[in-house]
Amino acid sequence: MRRIGLFSLLVIVVLLLAACPAPPPPATAPEGGAAAGEAAAAPSGELNLLCTPQVQWCEGMKAEFEKRYPDITVNFVRMSSGESLTRLRNERDNPQFDIWWGGPIDSFIAAKQEGLLEAYDSPNHANLADPEKYLDPDKYWVGIYVGTLGFATNKNWLAENPGVEPPRSWDDLLKPEFQGQIMVAHPSSSGTSYTALCTILQIKGEEEGWEFLKQYAGQVLQFTKSGAAPAKFVGQGEAAVGIVFSHDIVAEIENGAPLELTFPEEGTGYEIGGMGIVAGAKNLENAKLWYDWALEPATQELGPKYQAYQAPTVKGAQAARPELLQVTLIDYDFQWCGENKKAFVDKFTNEIAGAENLRK
Ligand code: F6P
Repeated sequence: MRRIGLFSLLVIVVLLLAACPAPPPPATAPEGGAAAGEAAAAPSGELNLLCTPQVQWCEGMKAEFEKRYPDITVNFVRMSSGESLTRLRNERDNPQFDIWWGGPIDSFIAAKQEGLLEAYDSPNHANLADPEKYLDPDKYWVGIYVGTLGFATNKNWLAENPGVEPPRSWDDLLKPEFQGQIMVAHPSSSGTSYTALCTILQIKGEEEGWEFLKQYAGQVLQFTKSGAAPAKFVGQGEAAVGIVFSHDIVAEIENGAPLELTFPEEGTGYEIGGMGIVAGAKNLENAKLWYDWALEPATQELGPKYQAYQAPTVKGAQAARPELLQVTLIDYDFQWCGENKKAFVDKFTNEIAGAENLRK
């Protein structure tokens, strides 16, 4: 009787234990992700953006990104390429920006060389139309747009100077009629102007190129800080000719400026606009979100909404102004121009034209 009682008790305990729910498994969510059954928290916080393209596009991109990620606030500062590089150098020990978006890749190559960028292997690199051209082999920078250099000539000035033709070659810039009539940015502050400088060195070779640059600088009325500014000033009649990226000239024409766009027929230089995460970015995850988003075809097609007519770099995105790329291009050596950026800019500033009093 006692034995039967003990056995029954044992059976009851086993049955009771079996009826109890199993304890939940320990939460083993991936790093930064949500635990099983939990909804992933929406990305939030801040993103500090160093933005080099035209301010209208920077503002537009901020608004579009915040629409996509409503809990992230984008703080941006618009700065020309050379200024941006200087800023990143100065803030190396305490970076204030998370991502640098826009501006010719020559500066990104220089920044990578100086350890100012952080590599990122984005899944959206797969979208690139030409990864060999648009992606740093070590993934420190990526191309996000393409643009060609052109000349903007004021049509009223042409009408007042019968017989004068707009420049159609780099050599035309040295003609006597353009003495004191040219506006271009300074290569120390501007990526546009550095692209022009490096184009000339590649077309003419270094020795002849530097000689040409001396004469070219002698034709300049005033150097500006930002690359696109000469299109505006020439449109207002302050000078006859501006050397500017063609998409910026098109935007000014669209705004009613009396400008004629021409290209150097022997070949023009072009930019691949870059993007890279800043080394030591404080909002790294948000920087990656921006980086991935900027490589989506729909994002790259937003440009024209903000008067940005650079051509996209990803498959599935259409160029709004394909004719701007259908011109004779030189085989621009980005690596060479990037690696020599500091030396060439210093030489231009010290031996040809200083960077004091640049027109804003
Ligand atoms: O205005 C837009 C733009 O021409 C970009 O295409 C280019 O990358 C950037 O400006 C260069 O600006 P900056 O010459 O002032 O460095």
